[in-house]
Amino acid sequence: MEVIIKKDYSEICEEAVNVIHRSWHKKRNLVLGLATGKTPLGVYEGLIRLYSERKMDFSDVSAFSLDEYLGLPEDHPQSFAFYMQHNFFRHINIPRDNIFRLDALPGDIETHCREYEKKIQSAGGIDIQILGIGKNGHIGFNEPSSSLSSRTRVKTLTQETIEANAHFFRDREDIPRYCLTMGIGTIMESRKILLLASGKEKAEAIRQSIEGSITASIPASILQLHPQAKFIIDAEAASQLTQRKYYEWVYDHKDKVDAFLANKKK
Ligand code: F6R
Repeated sequence: MEVIIKKDYSEICEEAVNVIHRSWHKKRNLVLGLATGKTPLGVYEGLIRLYSERKMDFSDVSAFSLDEYLGLPEDHPQSFAFYMQHNFFRHINIPRDNIFRLDALPGDIETHCREYEKKIQSAGGIDIQILGIGKNGHIGFNEPSSSLSSRTRVKTLTQETIEANAHFFRDREDIPRYCLTMGIGTIMESRKILLLASGKEKAEAIRQSIEGSITASIPASILQLHPQAKFIIDAEAASQLTQRKYYEWVYDHKDKVDAFLANKKK
């Protein structure tokens, strides 16, 4: 696990974009796992910019959605399918056949989730999973108490999430109460995980995830066990970390440490 603290939101997005861009240079058929929400918007904007400047090409890239509300039609403005299409896919040249989504209206939910997992495997696994984090430490729609080894499945939204969504819907009856989400076990199989967080409201969840015990009460705390997980956070989100100075020192001296280790090998 690595903790990267940047000044503000635009810097964390830039850092994540650079990681993805570098990885793409090494592997053109990169498999991405993508989250929705406010936080990754700047990352998608950065990747779109690289595409429009002809510095990145998505024709061999594949993308898997992290989660989806159950019951919303694909073209509903609140569906994750709509979000991804609107904020990312329609601006780049990713082939339609390389986009994999959890279906909001699947025939048989269990079969659909199992098939989704198989599709991830057939694509060779996820190279980079982008995550945001909830104020309660959730990742994807894995709310506190989700099994830390869970697979893709249906989840019931918390009352908090349902209320947070309420203003997006004219009729309360239309507010989704269930969702599909990659499981925590599924997420943990990604080769690299970039969790982004910005703002004071995420500071407590970030502290507990990085410096607290690993617990199903804070699902993101499981990332402590992932060798290639990066928490890319801004100063406000980092404001409650007790080891902040150490993380900053490690990051600032990364090149020197790499050079030192390379020299030792000779
Ligand atoms: C989104 C998702 C959620 C969000 C989290 C943070 O696909 O799975 O876990 O990443 O709720 O949301 P924002 O970024 O809007 O604060």
